[in-house]
Amino acid sequence: MGEKRNFRVWRGDDSSGQLQDFQVEVNEGEVVLDIIHRLQATQAPDLAVRWNCKAGKCGSCSMEINGKPRLGCMTRMSTFEPTETVTVTPLRTFPVIRDLVTDVSFNYQKARELPAFAPPAGVAPGEYRMQQVDVERSQEFRKCIECFLCQNVCHVIRDHEENKPAFAGPRFFIRAAELDMHPLDARTDRKDMAVEEQGIGYCNITKCCTEVCPEHIKITDNAIIPMKERAVDRRYDPIAWLGSKIFRR
Ligand code: F3S
Repeated sequence: MGEKRNFRVWRGDDSSGQLQDFQVEVNEGEVVLDIIHRLQATQAPDLAVRWNCKAGKCGSCSMEINGKPRLGCMTRMSTFEPTETVTVTPLRTFPVIRDLVTDVSFNYQKARELPAFAPPAGVAPGEYRMQQVDVERSQEFRKCIECFLCQNVCHVIRDHEENKPAFAGPRFFIRAAELDMHPLDARTDRKDMAVEEQGIGYCNITKCCTEVCPEHIKITDNAIIPMKERAVDRRYDPIAWLGSKIFRR
């Protein structure tokens, strides 16, 4: 039998809601998602939460825990003081569907707007060859589990709903960087797209996205800053500009 702890959970939908207090059993080794499941089983059967793998790999149980964007399944209850009230609220940047479940379709829309990998002409699948260093570079970005915590925390859209149409967000800047750095991607316009269509210029390098990434991807240092530099080089360096015209890269 574990100890009783204070838990506070946001209940409601997009039009109204409030925080609800619970006293709930917590056992050694449990994570916040375990406690939410216990609440569903014992006190609040209609409490809505999205989850899937409970292993930090599906990116479903994103929520805000004591105001910080976290994965419910990767946040141990032992990280809080026994007397502390743990407050769980939905992601703030996306509309609430119910309780802890938000509508993250903004991200799917931004994903659709980004053109996929374009294979080089005359090279069949299975014939792709690239240096190990290039494989490793994109491997870091491909660890993304699409939890959208980085999208949720970025102030450009968290505090400015009006920026959403013009700003793709950190998750899609790493995707753009991954493709732009891919030696076999045949598209030559990814840098221009990052500026003109994804709004990478709105990012002022606050690095909040990097801080919350559960996969520890260096979103800002390894993707956003290099992508900004590449875009600037392409636009304002006359040699790079000329090279891009001649070599189409
Ligand atoms: Fe936002 Fe990350 Fe830039 S949090 S402002 S995209 S460094």
